Amino acid sequence: MSESLKIAPSILSADFSRLGEEIKAIDKAGCDYIHIDVMDGHFVPNLTFGPPVISCIRPCTKKIFDVHLMIDPVQVHLESYAKVGADIITVHAEADGHLDRSLQMIRDMGKKAGVSLNPSTPENCIEYILDKLDLILVMSVNPGFGGQIFIESQVEKIRRIRSMIGDRPIEIEVDGGVSIENINSIVNAGANVVVAGSAVFNGNDYSATISALKSAAVS
Ligand code: DX5
Ligand code: ZN
Repeated sequence: MSESLKIAPSILSADFSRLGEEIKAIDKAGCDYIHIDVMDGHFVPNLTFGPPVISCIRPCTKKIFDVHLMIDPVQVHLESYAKVGADIITVHAEADGHLDRSLQMIRDMGKKAGVSLNPSTPENCIEYILDKLDLILVMSVNPGFGGQIFIESQVEKIRRIRSMIGDRPIEIEVDGGVSIENINSIVNAGANVVVAGSAVFNGNDYSATISALKSAAVS
């Protein structure tokens, strides 16, 4: 898994007053995806940005826009995120109550479909929709804020999901509290994409941090 490890810096921890420059800097530093955390102040206790901001930053990079929607309702907004240039659209299993339909809507717009599971949500809730998934986002913190502590119990969930998906080409992404110290156990459990918000943006050298994360994953 580790040779194909992807790093997805979360722009939630970027300097919003210089968002365009920050995105160009992580692109140049060698990130794989740009992780974009959309929060509605209802599904999670924080509010970030929506389609207009994503539309403004889309010309800053050609990298994959990995849009994590922490919003409920979500279905009514899917088309807007597809239109502003999201490549992967991830919805929460806990939102809306019609997950199968949300995933189908995303796929019908030609986008990759992801599902995210809160730390308390068991992985068996996605058992019957696996064939509609391109990505599973395991939340290793309760969503809402950057800089939280990694919840260790989620390593076992990653392992179970890896075995559940078999040989389906589904990515397993982990989000929250990822650091140089824990990335190795996350990747060994079966994740192939890691989100890193504060780990990347709190340092001065984004390129060195991304390389250090990739090295720590295989050491
Ligand atoms: C949390 C967000 C995460 C978060 C990660 O709700 O989904 O993407 O910004 O930040 P760190 O890496 O600082 O935990
Ligand atoms: Zn996220």
